[in-house]
This record gives sequence, C-alpha cells and structure tokens, in this order.
Amino acid sequence: MTDTLTPVLTSDWGNERAWTRAAYEKTGGYEALTKALAMEPDDLIAHVKDSGLRGRGGAGFPTGMKWSFIPQGDGKSHYLVVNADESEPGTCKDTPLMMATPHTLIEGVVIACYAIRAEKAFIYVRGEVLHVVRRLRAAVREAYEAGYLGQDIKGSGINCDLVIHAGAGAYICGEETALLDSLEGRRGQPRLRPPFPAVEGLYACPTVINNVESIASVPSIINGGVDWFASMGTEKSKGMTIYSLSGHVKSPGQYEAPLGITLRQLLGLGGGLRDGAELKFWTPGGSSTPILTTEHLDIPLDYEGVGAAGSMLGTKALQIFDQSTSVVRAVLRWTEFYKHESCGKCTPCREGTWWLVQTLDRLDKGEGREGDIELLVDLCENILGRAFCALGDGATSPITSAIKHFRSEFEAGMHTPSWELFPPAASTLFDKATAGVAI
Ligand SMILES: Cc1cc2nc3c(=O)[nH]c(=O)nc-3n(C[C@H](O)[C@H](O)[C@H](O)COP(=O)(O)O)c2cc1C
Ligand code: SF4
Repeated sequence: MTDTLTPVLTSDWGNERAWTRAAYEKTGGYEALTKALAMEPDDLIAHVKDSGLRGRGGAGFPTGMKWSFIPQGDGKSHYLVVNADESEPGTCKDTPLMMATPHTLIEGVVIACYAIRAEKAFIYVRGEVLHVVRRLRAAVREAYEAGYLGQDIKGSGINCDLVIHAGAGAYICGEETALLDSLEGRRGQPRLRPPFPAVEGLYACPTVINNVESIASVPSIINGGVDWFASMGTEKSKGMTIYSLSGHVKSPGQYEAPLGITLRQLLGLGGGLRDGAELKFWTPGGSSTPILTTEHLDIPLDYEGVGAAGSMLGTKALQIFDQSTSVVRAVLRWTEFYKHESCGKCTPCREGTWWLVQTLDRLDKGEGREGDIELLVDLCENILGRAFCALGDGATSPITSAIKHFRSEFEAGMHTPSWELFPPAASTLFDKATAGVAI
C-alpha cells in the first residue's frame, strides 16, 4: 500500500477543456473501448471480476460479480443504469467527475453494456445539478458524432444508446430500486426484493445498476490491466478511489488515493485542519455512516478497516468537524435531512424520523427531558433493521454513534442550548466577508 496520491480518474481534471472528446482522446480516451470490443463479453466480465473492483456507490459489492448475474441468452432486453443521484450529505465525488471528464464515464458505459449484452443505458442524474446534465448531454452528442455510441460502434456490429435522465431531486431516488421506479415515470419509492434488478429491473428486464465512479473506473482497468489495478489498495479492497475531504480542513476537495490510506495521511496531503483546529469527529463515508473520532485517525480507509472500527466506508465522503462543532446540532441537521427525504413508504422510517427530530430539537435547545437519550436509542432500535430500505438504517447511524462517543453533550442538552456551549459562529465555514467562499 502506498500513501501517496494516485490520480487516475482525476488525472486529467486540470487539463484544458478536459470535458471535450478531443481532450479526452488526446490522453488515450476511448482506447480501452477498442480493446474491450476485441474481447469476448464473458472475458470482459471475468477481467473486471479479477481486478477486484468493488462498487463505489456505498455498499462495495464486487462489480464484475454483479455483471455476471445478468442472465444470458434469455431473449430479453438488458439495461445498464448508472446511478448519478449523489445526494448523501457530504458525498461529492461523482458530480465533479462528470463535470471534469464525462467521456470517462461514457466510455465505461459502452464497455459495460457490451459486457452484459445491453443495447441501452441510462445515466440517472440528480435533478439539481443542471450544469452536469448539460455537460453530459453535450458529451453524449460528441460520442454519437464520433461513432462511440449508436449503431455498429466503430464497425464492431455492437449497438449502444445512452440517455441522460434528470431526476427531480430526491435522495431516495439514489436507492437503486426507487431509482428504477422513478426512471419508469413513477413516484420514486423502493421496490420489494426479490426479484432483484439483475432478474427484473428496468421495465422488468435484467438490469445492472452501478455508481458513476464504478463505471468510470472500468476503462482504466482495461488499459492498465488487472495486476496494475490490484497492485493498489489492500487485500480485499483493491484499486484507487476518490476520497472527498470537506469541513474544517484547509484544502477541501477530491483526493484520489489507494484504498486503505488513513485519514491522518489524507489530512497530511491536504494541509491538515484549519488553523487552531483540533479534530473532534468525522464521517468516513457520508452522513449515514457512523461517526468516528481522533482514535480512528490511523485505521485503513478500506471496507474492512472501517467496518472493523464500527462504521462503513460508504462513499468515502470524509466530513471533518473540529472542536467548535456541537455534535447534537450536527446530528439534528442530518436527522432533519432524513426526515425530509423519507419517502413515507414504511412506518418505522416515516414516523420514526419525525420523532427523532422532535427529540433532538429539544436537546439542541437545552430543553431535553429526563429519558430523552434513552428515547433516542429506543427509536433508533425500532428503525434499524425494521425499515423497508437502507435510508431508515442510515438515519440512525449518526445518532447512535454520536451518543456512544459524546453522551455528555446529549446530557448537557437537558439544561443548556447547544449554541451556548458551541457558538455557531465559531464553527461556520463561511463569514460575511467571504460570502459563498469556503475558508
Ligand atoms: C437512500 C439511498 C441513497 C443512495 N444514493 C446513491 C447514490 O446517489 N449513488 C449511488 O451510486 N448509490 C446510491 N445508493 C446505493 C445504491 O442503492 C446502489 O447500491 C449503488 O448504486 C450500486 O452501485 P455500485 O455497486 O457501483 O456501488 C443509495 C442507497 C440508498 C439506500
Ligand atoms: S426506510 Fe424510509 S425511505 Fe426507505 S422505504 Fe421506508 S419510508 Fe421510504
């Protein structure tokens, strides 16, 4: 394992007009597609399997294995759906990737479609990021013009059409089955499984759903080879990945490094915390992953390392909070998000998130009642594992982990408002002089 940055997906982000086909081709873009089309689809799946690539959308499911679940010779249409909903608080890697180098994703889409024998793909983009939608559509137009999309791609006899679909801005539409319902024109709510999407997905046909970064990683694996990819990362978490550093740090941004790097190393590369700041807590993979503290600075940031520390690698969204932050206030904000984004399909999440907000709000105001901490824990226990989808489970993570690490702050909420203990002005990332500019 190396502790230095390994820019692969991000290597061209700074190039002149990196988002254009011409710029992409200048640095070897679409060469992987030519190589892939010369391979058999099954060999391509085996190649991705052997590389050890695991899904970058949160759960870390092996990508090649997911592709191999698609039944072959079934006479049905197959679909590839790229999950570009990216709405988890803290998660912000797919949006810059699509803005900077959309052709990396498009090349990955065509290769993946060929592997799973799909002739149609969709990229489901978070509705609010209109600039990304426009950039993707322009890139798709360019790819059609050059014959990388459409009929008989580069004379191979292979066809692939790609549709950019803008969602309406709902976190739940990132959950893969809710995404499929939304894509079909229905209200985005999760589906009961089985059947799994590999058997009955979009339009009841076999469907692979992958994260943007997962699919965008494929061309480099074809070009670099399995051994090159597996030479980065750790035993069970191979390759490089994008870590998003945000919050009370000097240089927030995207840091592409081998899986297994530690937060201490990443902070070192990013110039550390802002002046005078001390690390208080952090999320390893977005707001739905249990928070960690200074004692976890040296754990390997791979699926196994973060799991062993009692959290999840998730989307590798490292949100850093210093000593000026009220844990109660931060957790309340996240919980308000989950309450707002709960789709309402199941009772534990729909009702539970509402009660969680009421209780946390009291503690934030210093008006907590005797037994409120136990009430929070009880509510969480009644949501976790009982909700219809992982949104409900995710809503409990920040609360139970915060109580575990910072119980005294919740106890203080019985008598003192959070803003007296932790004045918001001290933890804000913005001030009037730099309105809109992160400091
Ligand atoms: C509430 C919720 C939101 C999600 N949002 C996203 C998302 O925005 N992007 C994403 O790739 N996966 C998201 N996921 C995970 C997807 O359901 C799915 O696991 C993922 O797209 C699979 O891709 P991968 O195997 O390449 O990681 C979300 C899951 C849940 C429960
Ligand atoms: S857990 Fe929440 S988001 Fe998921 S189905 Fe139930 S109500 Fe909807």
